[in-house]
Amino acid sequence: MSFKFQNDDARCKAFREVLKQDWTKLESAETDRGRGLPKPSVTKTYSEGAIFDLDHDIKDISDKTLFEVVNSRRSTRKYQDVFMTQKELSYLCHMTCHISKFGPGYAMGVIPTGGATSSLETYLYLHKVKDFVPGLYHYMKDTNQLRLIRSDITPEMVNESTLNQLRGAQVIFYWTATPYRTEYKYSNTSHKMIAQESGHACQNLYLASEAIGYGTVAIAAYNQIAADRLLELSEDEFVIYVAAVGKKII
Ligand SMILES: Cc1cc2nc3c(=O)[nH]c(=O)nc-3n(C[C@H](O)[C@H](O)[C@H](O)COP(=O)(O)O)c2cc1C
Repeated sequence: MSFKFQNDDARCKAFREVLKQDWTKLESAETDRGRGLPKPSVTKTYSEGAIFDLDHDIKDISDKTLFEVVNSRRSTRKYQDVFMTQKELSYLCHMTCHISKFGPGYAMGVIPTGGATSSLETYLYLHKVKDFVPGLYHYMKDTNQLRLIRSDITPEMVNESTLNQLRGAQVIFYWTATPYRTEYKYSNTSHKMIAQESGHACQNLYLASEAIGYGTVAIAAYNQIAADRLLELSEDEFVIYVAAVGKKII
């Protein structure tokens, strides 16, 4: 038996096509990889801004089981007014963005990415983290460090970009997509995979937060123009997903 809904909105019908991809029609020869064009870099590198090491001694930070974490996770929108520690920040970064294997045109780490094309970049607005000035940081995939890229960011600017969803969170994660990294290999079948990749990152953030007494809320309802402006992105890169993380009120 099939469902039949009464929705004649042509825009919805057009957008649904992005979610339906026919891989039998992907002609490798018609991709930029098939044409022999150079591989796009899977990393973005800033040349300026202070660099901060993360703590790699983080294995013992949680004693919860995966079963407990998965089953107790809830979207969290109210937080304690405390500072996150550097170890906690390091743990969240490791669990959502850590890369362990690199090569030309590919990167492999804690989240699966379509064809290892690693289309995402991660930016963090550190609002209340001990020993870090508030500001916008970029996660450096090649060295697993953070780089301060903007220290002039105010909570008001973050609220503008998140449609007032900062709500006192300690950290805001902004994930951006650089579609060409995936399009190079998979052409028009890329876009659904890129969105799915961001979902993997955010789910890891949900679970990692829960493991250490923090809560996350995914934010799809953000202001695209304000978020892209906040991160000073070019037209080849744009925000695709946002999440707030804060210390849970018990
Ligand atoms: C793709 C996606 C986008 C979401 N966007 C928002 C958002 O912008 N603001 C918000 O408060 N919650 C957002 N949420 C959280 C959902 O409201 C939440 O997951 C849902 O109510 C179920 O609650 P739970 O996560 O506690 O199970 C989003 C969730 C997903 C998966």
